Amino acid sequence: MSVNRPKIVAANWKMNLLPSDAMDLVAQYDFKFGEDAAEVVLFPPFTHISMMKAALQLGFKLGAQNCSLEQMGAFTGEIAVEMLTDLNCSHVLVGHSEARSRNSHENGWVSKKIRRALDAGLHVVYCCGESLETRLREAEYTWVGNQLSGDLSLVPAGELGQLIIAYEPIWAIGTGKNASPEQAQEMHVFIRKKMSELYGQVSAEIPILYGGSVSSANALTLAEMPDIDGVLVGGSSLKPIEFRMIFEAFRGLSEQ
Ligand code: PGA
Repeated sequence: MSVNRPKIVAANWKMNLLPSDAMDLVAQYDFKFGEDAAEVVLFPPFTHISMMKAALQLGFKLGAQNCSLEQMGAFTGEIAVEMLTDLNCSHVLVGHSEARSRNSHENGWVSKKIRRALDAGLHVVYCCGESLETRLREAEYTWVGNQLSGDLSLVPAGELGQLIIAYEPIWAIGTGKNASPEQAQEMHVFIRKKMSELYGQVSAEIPILYGGSVSSANALTLAEMPDIDGVLVGGSSLKPIEFRMIFEAFRGLSEQ
């Protein structure tokens, strides 16, 4: 069965950039969205989101880098999903390894956050991926398989349309050492197979992004891989020319 999955290029700005500089960076991207363009989702820090309405008019989508797993209420320092949708966010990142390493003491928080985000109607960019130590033990497939079955335990098949998976091997994040396109492709095939075991045929429609040291130098070969539906870009998304080249690498591939 051939499936047309959307191409998605996402910018994870992490804790970078002043709020007052955010729209300048977006203007410098200077993207021309046409019918063949990839969808672009920007993940600025929380403090920038309300100033970025103009980005929506330019054709970008807005997402948050995190959300609370709690309902609105007495949770000092937390951000509820309803606050994000009220600011026109359509997406949220859940399970990024940098967030996992800060929350390692709490069990089940990834699946609970995913559940809250789905309830609010957000698209979830769910991140998974193994450490270097796990890959050296050749246990990466078991690791990622277990992450998927545990973290997605509260997602029924009927809501998979709101799910985007990002495979981000931890050893490739911010290191300049990306997974080779073949390594990423192999893991994406594995993720798709695991999702089809968990959910059946409908899982063929889930976009799977690769993240970890994506740059203009590797974007084209990543884009050519049949199971890489887009990228989650950290460092290179802060460099407008670099990010435009990554965006262009995924242009026109949506129909394949
Ligand atoms: P990087 O980050 O592109 O800087 O490696 C990717 C990410 O953490 O999402």
